[in-house]
Amino acid sequence: MLDAASKAFFHTLAGSRALKRLSSRYGFRPSGGFARRFIAGEDVGQALEATRALQASGMLITLDHLGESVSSSAEADAATRTYLSLIDRIVAAGVERNISLKLTQLGLGIDRATCLDNLRRVLDLSGPHGFFVRLDMENSPFTEVTLDIFETLWGLGYHHAGVALQSMLLRSDEDVRRVNRLGARVRLIKGAYNEPKAVAYHRKADVDTAFVRMMQALLTEGVYPALATHDVKMIEATKQFAAERGIGKDRYEFQMLYGIRRDLQTQLVADGYRMRVYVPFGREWFPYFMRRLGERPANVGFVLKGIFGER
Ligand code: FDA
Repeated sequence: MLDAASKAFFHTLAGSRALKRLSSRYGFRPSGGFARRFIAGEDVGQALEATRALQASGMLITLDHLGESVSSSAEADAATRTYLSLIDRIVAAGVERNISLKLTQLGLGIDRATCLDNLRRVLDLSGPHGFFVRLDMENSPFTEVTLDIFETLWGLGYHHAGVALQSMLLRSDEDVRRVNRLGARVRLIKGAYNEPKAVAYHRKADVDTAFVRMMQALLTEGVYPALATHDVKMIEATKQFAAERGIGKDRYEFQMLYGIRRDLQTQLVADGYRMRVYVPFGREWFPYFMRRLGERPANVGFVLKGIFGER
């Protein structure tokens, strides 16, 4: 994890149209496109192919159709319809029924009601087919409203959804308790966004300490939590705490992002742990991709190789 200044730098680059154009041109070239490392493909067929390969090696999956921050109701409706057709494609393909989505993709930045209606459409179609739907967590201006929408739908009986919480946010201890009280499932993450000091820890040590604290609260008081991290220390702390408390490997799962620490993913499966890979796909991959670079500057090296190495 980088310090806040470096993270801010990559978040600024994420807003660059020129860089986005350049990336779109080179990211998925037939040979060696650099985006392939982190993005399963630009279309659903490629994502399903990646999914099958992961399942064949013993991994669980969640599919994410990339997109965020839409600015009109028409775009939010289009994104919702894309998710509805993704659900049909997943059912037809016979792969695991688990999806992740971002509420700003469904119109959260426009208004709460639009987003809630769109999410309900996704939950209405996915529920009877036995899906689990995870709400990703976005930057802090959306935390409260995301939880509020989640709670509203939970109260209406939509219990096949869960939410993500970020250990970097100062508020998250209370949010962990809040979601635990509902009996809903949490994905715990460190948090990928550039947040102000008023709301978030900025030192890695503090984010990590908070992660361990929240992991323990989720394992003892929560329902089937997901510990989503590539950090060996966090993973070891989880394994150790669960073993000490006699919490079986079937009562929680680890999650990692597609293409990151594949060695660790394979090892966890070999050791009998549940390991879910987050499989992102779609044409709107640029902001997601930039967050991955922001987490590890060494990734910039293979991007440059992908662009200049092919000329
Ligand atoms: P940390 O950043 O400390 O990295 C630990 C080690 O992991 C590094 O030393 C390196 O080896 C490896 N690593 C981490 N990132 C890497 C990268 N990009 N490339 C290569 N190696 C890398 N965030 C969010 O705000 N909202 C969300 O909804 C989600 N959802 C989500 C789902 C899943 C399944 C995962 C795994 C992660 C998310 N995230 C997220 C992202 C998360 O908040 C966080 O930014 C990243 O996971 C990186 O943090 P780590 O916990 O891996 O630790």
